[in-house]
Amino acid sequence: MPEPEDILSLIQNALDLIITVDLDGTISYVSPAIERLLGYTQEEYIGRNSRTVVHPDDVSKVMKVSKSTNPSTDIRVQHKNGSWIIFEGLVKKRINNSRIVGVVINARDITERKRVDEEIRDSRQQLRNLSAHLQAMREEERKQISIDLHDELGQSLTALKMELSWLEKKLSGDQLLLKERVISMIKLVDDTVRSIQRISTELRPGILDDLGLTEAIKWQASEFTNRTGIRCTVSLSKEEFPLDQDRATVVFRIFQETLTNVARHASATRVAVALNEKYGKLYMKIKDNGIGINQRQISGSKSLGLIGIRERAYSLGGSVKISGVSGKGTTVILTIPIDGNDKTRD
Ligand SMILES: Nc1ncnc2c1ncn2[C@@H]1O[C@H](COP(=O)(O)OP(=O)(O)O)[C@@H](O)[C@H]1O
Ligand SMILES: [Mg+2]
Repeated sequence: MPEPEDILSLIQNALDLIITVDLDGTISYVSPAIERLLGYTQEEYIGRNSRTVVHPDDVSKVMKVSKSTNPSTDIRVQHKNGSWIIFEGLVKKRINNSRIVGVVINARDITERKRVDEEIRDSRQQLRNLSAHLQAMREEERKQISIDLHDELGQSLTALKMELSWLEKKLSGDQLLLKERVISMIKLVDDTVRSIQRISTELRPGILDDLGLTEAIKWQASEFTNRTGIRCTVSLSKEEFPLDQDRATVVFRIFQETLTNVARHASATRVAVALNEKYGKLYMKIKDNGIGINQRQISGSKSLGLIGIRERAYSLGGSVKISGVSGKGTTVILTIPIDGNDKTRD
């Protein structure tokens, strides 16, 4: 045990506030830190009732904590200048002749820590909002470009093709060279129309808007199989899920992004996607039989695709679970509330 004078000097030099409180709530001692932390001198503070210095909403918290061994946090105490300082504190019973005579409190100023915590939380929320906003804008733009490409360019090219066909018919048999050129122009126009259709579909599959999510998923799965040779099977517990367009788009984009990852990273030969509905939520499970993602890749700060997937789900009140088993494959499970009520999760 330290000598009593050492204990005294520890108390007097402590950065935390040390307070003793009598049974009736009177503050009988406060360490000199009071001046730095709350602006009062020791003399000004001693003799006050502890209940009058704590924020009225926090008094009950202090009372409760004197019965427990855990520190209580977020106790607001008023500074001499009127502002509220936030403390966390440990409260210990003072016992004299086996009777409780009061408590001794070790209180730490956590105002700055709380402020920083809050700032981090706020800025994280801002980034989330920004990301959601950018995603929505990007989706809207893609849709518009897709429609413009398809409608406007498509129409002009159809008209061009009709003109060329007319020209071809007008050309007589002895104008063979010109005829050949016109035919090759018609073919060029046909190719261009097909390219435009492909680009426009890649930007925004019309099937998603026209036929809904499950048809779009089936279509994307077979496109994927055709393009990569990786078999992709779709199993649905229902033919259609009642999602609004925003939600359907998010689910579809997460599916696309996940398939892209399978093609790019997994070395898989099969992918299975299953959609089902339970307790008002849509579950989409995408499982491949590839090399398996590891923990570092799952939570890495460079895994921007995966962060994007999580954020998109989060913005609609949903969540994404990613797991991998080395040599066995990767599983991505998306959960999203079907109606929009859960949108305001923070
Ligand atoms: N299906 C998968 N199988 C194996 N590894 C994967 C799979 N999906 C993702 N990964 C790993 O996780 C990393 C992060 O994925 P992602 O955030 O989409 O980034 P990117 O695709 O741009 O590399 C990938 O680089 C890859 O190493
Ligand atoms: Mg990716």
